[in-house]
Amino acid sequence: MAVKKVVTFGHPALRVPSKNIDNFNDIRELIDDMFDTMYEFDGIGLAANQIGLNKRIFVVDISHTEECDSPMVFINGHIKKGEGSCVDSEGCLSLPEIRINVERYSSITYQYLDHNLKAHTKEFNGFLATVIQHENDHLDGKLITDYATPADLLKYDKALKLMKSSNVK
Ligand code: NI
Repeated sequence: MAVKKVVTFGHPALRVPSKNIDNFNDIRELIDDMFDTMYEFDGIGLAANQIGLNKRIFVVDISHTEECDSPMVFINGHIKKGEGSCVDSEGCLSLPEIRINVERYSSITYQYLDHNLKAHTKEFNGFLATVIQHENDHLDGKLITDYATPADLLKYDKALKLMKSSNVK
């Protein structure tokens, strides 16, 4: 169990599409580390590339809502189908202090392996569907700033430039 460093906007790991996991030897430890890190920073979702790992896995815990009562793990997942649309204000551990309105599918069919490596193709709705799409975006190298309006970019210009400059080696 260990809390890892969460990389922020401007870090190259956030822009590289993640590779499917094919060696599951250390998966239990990785899952524990990801939950430890997510809880430490009060997140509700965390993708592996946010801790600098190019692996197609994310964890979610929205058990504070009534939609879902337990933490969830999604390995090698992808969206099979999306329907409807909804817009919600989203934040991200890799973009502290920033909120962006993002349009998402209101319902998705997601194919993935769970924490026991059991395969699922399941429909998700509501807030959980939004969180899954946010985390799946991470694995595809996409961030909420990619949905930002010119007004958002203006508002957060300073914060984004600061984050970017702190990630330049
Ligand atoms: Ni995020």
